[in-house]
Amino acid sequence: MADKYRVGIIGCGSIAGLHVHGYQGVEEVEIVAIADPVEAALNDFGERHNIKKRYLDAREMLDKENLDIVSVATWHKLHAPMTIAACARKPKAVLCEKPMATSLGECDEMMIAARRTDVKVAIAHQRRFNPVWTDARELIADGAIGEPRQIVCRGGQGLLNDCSHLLDMMRYVQGDPDAAWVIGNIERKTERYERDIPIEDRSAGIIGFNNGCIGLLLQELAGPNYQGGVIYGSDGILDLTEQRVRLLNSKKAEWEERQAEGENPSVAQVRELVSWIEGKTEHRGDAKNGRASVEIIMAIYESARLHEVVQMPVRTHASPLQVMIDNGDLPVERPGRYDIRAFLLRGESMEP
Ligand SMILES: NC(=O)c1ccc[n+]([C@@H]2O[C@H](COP(=O)([O-])OP(=O)(O)OC[C@H]3O[C@@H](n4cnc5c(N)ncnc54)[C@H](O)[C@@H]3O)[C@@H](O)[C@H]2O)c1
Repeated sequence: MADKYRVGIIGCGSIAGLHVHGYQGVEEVEIVAIADPVEAALNDFGERHNIKKRYLDAREMLDKENLDIVSVATWHKLHAPMTIAACARKPKAVLCEKPMATSLGECDEMMIAARRTDVKVAIAHQRRFNPVWTDARELIADGAIGEPRQIVCRGGQGLLNDCSHLLDMMRYVQGDPDAAWVIGNIERKTERYERDIPIEDRSAGIIGFNNGCIGLLLQELAGPNYQGGVIYGSDGILDLTEQRVRLLNSKKAEWEERQAEGENPSVAQVRELVSWIEGKTEHRGDAKNGRASVEIIMAIYESARLHEVVQMPVRTHASPLQVMIDNGDLPVERPGRYDIRAFLLRGESMEP
């Protein structure tokens, strides 16, 4: 027991369960403590997963538990402050939920905190560990569809939430090219929020990657929304979901349906974290990839704000969506704040 990596989890809600599943699948780690200011959430979670040490204050847990690995599983706004608080106590690694943060300024502060304390920070875009998505990545690398030319995805729930996974997927399957430019637009006529973050009602983004491929992301514009997309190449097509990838190219008479087998993504994500801590591999969720996905989102907002093609890198550190709202550039026509994730809250509260 003594030589296991000591894990603490900040935030005992729905996604934290997946973190527990990941840690329990890797024998080198042990969950020793959890933290959540909502006592009922803390105790329910502690009982369910048999975790004895429970803290209402995450910083007290960080100070007392000498943790090697910290999971940040709170809502988006707390990703930066909790990751920075964790880094200040110098664990070996932090596994923070997606989206990495709500602005590029916050992402950069997280990277600074990680660098100055020498902590490895990974962002939980766990579908990078989905064997089907890795199969798609390998097919593209092997030239199965020729040169990737276009990727089309359909998402919902605002750009920062589900769509951060989709943008991460666009990069992952292509071998993580950077975006060179982005053009986009948004509509926000209601006071729509997602986990306490203002989001647009709908949006579209076109991303020019530096390998020449064009990404097209439709958010609440043309359902059905799903995690996956269609990737068109110079010599074939990949049709990707979380369950399977279908391949068609000039050598095939019909679609080939492929179902890759492999370890559960949450477990594989932790296994690679241990391997990263021990200096054996990189981690495919390295914060630089989490940041890249947020940067494309901010570029879509920035393009809507400035009415121009945004050449990367994005130089605005605040969220351009928040700037537009604060400046009155997006007048609300159907007033009344609502949060599409209010159902996650407990008791009488409608806002955290
Ligand atoms: N990777 C994925 O596929 C995936 C899926 C779902 C959610 N998420 C992400 O996980 C994050 C959490 O979402 P969720 O659905 O689990 O929310 P949730 O509301 O179920 O859980 C969040 C928990 O954080 C707690 N919390 C609030 N303030 C805190 C604080 N100061 N210290 C410690 N805990 C605090 C809340 O009491 C709550 O129990 C979000 O950022 C979301 O984007 C990722």
